[in-house]
Amino acid sequence: MANDKATLTIGDKSWDFPVHSPSVGPDVIDITTLYKETGCFTFDPGFTSTAACESDITYIDGDEGILLHRGYPIEQLAEKGDFLETCYLLLYGELPTKEQGDEFRHRVTYHTMVHEQMNRFFTGFRRDAHPMSIMCGSVGALSAFYHDSTDISDEKQRMIASLRMIAKMPTLAAMAYKYHVGQPFVYPRNDLGYAANFLQMCFAVPAEDYKVNPVLAKAMDTIFILHADHEQNASTSTVRLAGSSGANPFACIAAGIACLWGPAHGGANEAALNMLEEIGSVDRIPEYIAKAKDKNDPFRLMGFGHRVYKNYDPRARLMQKTTHDVLNELGIHDDPILQVAMELEKIALTDDYFVEKKLYPNIDFYSGITLKALGFPTNMFTVLFALARTVGWIAQWKEMIEDPKQKIGRPRQLYTGATSRDYVEVKDR
Ligand code: CMC
Repeated sequence: MANDKATLTIGDKSWDFPVHSPSVGPDVIDITTLYKETGCFTFDPGFTSTAACESDITYIDGDEGILLHRGYPIEQLAEKGDFLETCYLLLYGELPTKEQGDEFRHRVTYHTMVHEQMNRFFTGFRRDAHPMSIMCGSVGALSAFYHDSTDISDEKQRMIASLRMIAKMPTLAAMAYKYHVGQPFVYPRNDLGYAANFLQMCFAVPAEDYKVNPVLAKAMDTIFILHADHEQNASTSTVRLAGSSGANPFACIAAGIACLWGPAHGGANEAALNMLEEIGSVDRIPEYIAKAKDKNDPFRLMGFGHRVYKNYDPRARLMQKTTHDVLNELGIHDDPILQVAMELEKIALTDDYFVEKKLYPNIDFYSGITLKALGFPTNMFTVLFALARTVGWIAQWKEMIEDPKQKIGRPRQLYTGATSRDYVEVKDR
């Protein structure tokens, strides 16, 4: 460690604060006693410089474009492993042995069905409801169905709630899709792998046989791995904050889903595909690049830029490969939207505006094209992100609950409103 303390001077007074070194990454100045000692708060809207917790789950080096889960690079997990193995790693901290992996798969599979009453719950939604609104409601509703796994002080119950959510999220996501398109719900099949089962719940119909294409199932599984966790992003921080009060775990995950929905976060994959379709052809790209650079135009290139990555998002590279795998398998060789995406990427990567601001493609740039080719409508994209991110939310929630230093999250503010004043009667206002 270069320094073990940081000195703060205000006027003629100075205070020392401890500096902690992480296993890798920037040092952090521990200001937990700042208010008690100095009477001041820090001001950091958007938490751009604030480490809100200690965590050993995921590490991102945004300048180098590195993403590690429990130390393992995302490239290796995506190329050599599968999603349930990544889930195990995120939850337990180590890759499973063969026996541990088999047992974990069995336990997740055993929980894939949802309470039959959930079917009735779904019919309360309008058919044209956005599937993310259905997910917010139905995942929150799980808290009303599984009372035997909500005592968060009991390690066993915490794990059952965790497994239930990982197992039931594909079932609920597929139900949201089926409800939206007006088809009957398809029950899970426990003889299929996690991603293959999800595809059959989405695309099988009772009237005919459905055979899962293994290449597409593998692509789906990779997409899940790429979205599994991403450190203290907005939705994960939401889950932690909601959970810090001791709230019901299913309700905490519903809070994460609500946060993920926004276009600056998980909603960007839907927005990116809409944007690519709006651009439509390569010759219109300069017009959109100019719009993105125009300070007076709110338009942004969706799927570009990231709060942490100031380099190519490593997930975007893997996603680009998955896109090609899926399109090749489906025999789509001249997809005009893919051509627009590739050309747009090429132009933006050499344009001064994007180069100077270090704006690179993020995971959402290519995921929309892939998901569309897999057969999902755009409004399902963020649902798939939520499905995959559930394990990350849960691992981070569990870590927080098990942290002896855990406190309810309670930020402070820089108050700029009126100071104390007396109530004015209506007749005198
Ligand atoms: N297109 C054009 N300009 C951009 C873009 C973009 N996509 N992203 C950032 N900028 C500019 C921005 O105008 C600002 O310029 P200036 O300094 O002149 O005011 C500068 O770059 C920094 O942007 P910022 O908004 O201060 O950066 P941020 O860290 O607050 O925002 C972001 C990060 C992801 C919200 C933003 O880059 C963005 O809106 N991107 C498009 C949406 C998107 O693709 N989101 C998916 C993120 S990855 C998936 C996930 O983790 O959820």
